[in-house]
Amino acid sequence: MIDTSRRAMLHAIETRLRDHMSGAPKRLRHVLGVSQTAAELARIYGVDEFEACAAGLLHDWDKVLTPDETLARAAELGVSLDGPADRVVGLLHGPLAARELPALFPELPAAVFQAVDRHTVGAIDMMPLDMVVFIADAIEPGRVGAYADELRAQVGEVTLDELFFSCFSHGITYVVSTGRYLYPTAVDIYNTYAIRRTLSER
Ligand SMILES: [Fe+2]
Ligand SMILES: [Fe+2]
Repeated sequence: MIDTSRRAMLHAIETRLRDHMSGAPKRLRHVLGVSQTAAELARIYGVDEFEACAAGLLHDWDKVLTPDETLARAAELGVSLDGPADRVVGLLHGPLAARELPALFPELPAAVFQAVDRHTVGAIDMMPLDMVVFIADAIEPGRVGAYADELRAQVGEVTLDELFFSCFSHGITYVVSTGRYLYPTAVDIYNTYAIRRTLSER
């Protein structure tokens, strides 16, 4: 349950988001879907629903920038990722937004910005909120395909760690099978959760 004052905060964030994304209706639909899905996951997995909603709304804040604008803004703010610019530019909008959003939305807790940060490349120590946003990004209603359906069917049936592991593994499989650049930390993240999973199965 989200109390009235926090509902009002979400409403205000959404209003600013609609303005920010007024030229990108598809992207707006996506982030609204992610926010709604993140809220559902939060309710199911006992994560703060307000934070999930807020992070969902804001996670792609910087995705409205062109690749050149993204690189320029990242250079300006000292945000960098490991790899050639043309390979990491699509991943930068998470860390970049995490750097910019606190000044725009000072009313939000740091956990929200961390979830925004981690939604593109993940981390070895994902918090439940980080996982919720990461997964919601992959299964919001606008995502079509057998894989999204498979993941949706696991919601509430498996642990949040397990759901994240499925989601992350699929991401890696997709990147490798299409010959894309695999972000270097992906293997460590994969192994961290694969080991944790093996241990919990014992
Ligand atoms: Fe994104
Ligand atoms: Fe997204």
